[in-house]
Amino acid sequence: MTYGDGTRVVHAGLPAPEPDQPFLPGPVFAAPYHLDPQAGPGRNGYGRPDNPTRRALEDAIGELEGGEALAFASGQAAITGLLLATLRAGDTVALPSDGYFTVRAFAEGTLRDLGVRAVLVPTAGPYPAFEGVRLVLLETPANPGLDVCDIRAVAAAAHAAGALVAVDNTTATPLGQRPLELGADVVVASGTKALTGHSDVLLGYVATADPDLLARMTTWRAQTGGIPGAFDAWLAHRSLATLDLRLSRQSTNARAVAELLAGRPDVTGVRWPGLPGDPSYALARAQMGRIPGVVSFDLGSAERVGAFLTASRLVFAATSFGGVHTSADRRAQWGDDTAPGFVRLSCGIEDTDDLVADLTAALDAT
Ligand SMILES: Cc1ncc(COP(=O)(O)O)c(C=O)c1O
Repeated sequence: MTYGDGTRVVHAGLPAPEPDQPFLPGPVFAAPYHLDPQAGPGRNGYGRPDNPTRRALEDAIGELEGGEALAFASGQAAITGLLLATLRAGDTVALPSDGYFTVRAFAEGTLRDLGVRAVLVPTAGPYPAFEGVRLVLLETPANPGLDVCDIRAVAAAAHAAGALVAVDNTTATPLGQRPLELGADVVVASGTKALTGHSDVLLGYVATADPDLLARMTTWRAQTGGIPGAFDAWLAHRSLATLDLRLSRQSTNARAVAELLAGRPDVTGVRWPGLPGDPSYALARAQMGRIPGVVSFDLGSAERVGAFLTASRLVFAATSFGGVHTSADRRAQWGDDTAPGFVRLSCGIEDTDDLVADLTAALDAT
């Protein structure tokens, strides 16, 4: 029996029902645990490698991604962990030129200093031959431009050249797409965004079905220590139960917002992969189970973005995305390589009519 998304997220990672026990056990706060005085270390010895709250979250994420998951303190901890655990001096890594900018900055700083060369490739392609590349990291849809790439095709080409393939699944979430089924060796993601969705947790994860890679990342995390705390792991697991509901409303809101923006002469460059006519539309339809709530567009100038955000009553000026509150971010203010008036708008779960009315009024006011 295959369950639907809503059922899967509600039950993901929960222990079997037991009388007198909660559905989701509370966070276990422990640095050391009692050891068996005779036998020594068991399943829980010390909090850095072992925590049952974190393991339950990892079971949940692993179920959803179709592999084994390891939780990290943030998306960056997971991504940089994968890069550092798999790349050696003299290696080449292919990274998205239009993906999350901190990953590029890491490659252009730390990785370069370690003797690793980065090749930047636009998510929409064209993709170069991968001969001599150790690791290909894809980010699809790419943040913030929302281009999409064909994971199956790129993975096949990369594997033929002997490269490992990682996919950043942050924007899509495992309900939006399952990169491991599409041929990726490993998923990396920020769980800070839609996965947990309440703007109160930083979280990252790696998921893979490759036992060697899992063992390497387990050792990496145990030795470098970038773990999420028990309370954050518990909050994340608790939030996961509503992922299907949240994504559904976010996607509905994004469609309405994208249609509104695309119909306005004072807004340009509207991107949402679910909009027929969007350059990502056909691939996203073929590859993704659902389209996320993030829309991008250009208001022409930083001043107009500021006026729009001031006029809106529902859109929070904030970075990050995927949360239950609608928020918008002028990416250039963080150093992202985008136009001054470029906005990434993350639709929350407000009522669609309220959001459309608020955006219309805020745009009309500027
Ligand atoms: C696509 C993507 N990957 C990774 C990250 C990094 O995640 P975190 O902020 O949890 O470290 C982000 C953060 O915005 C992101 O958008």
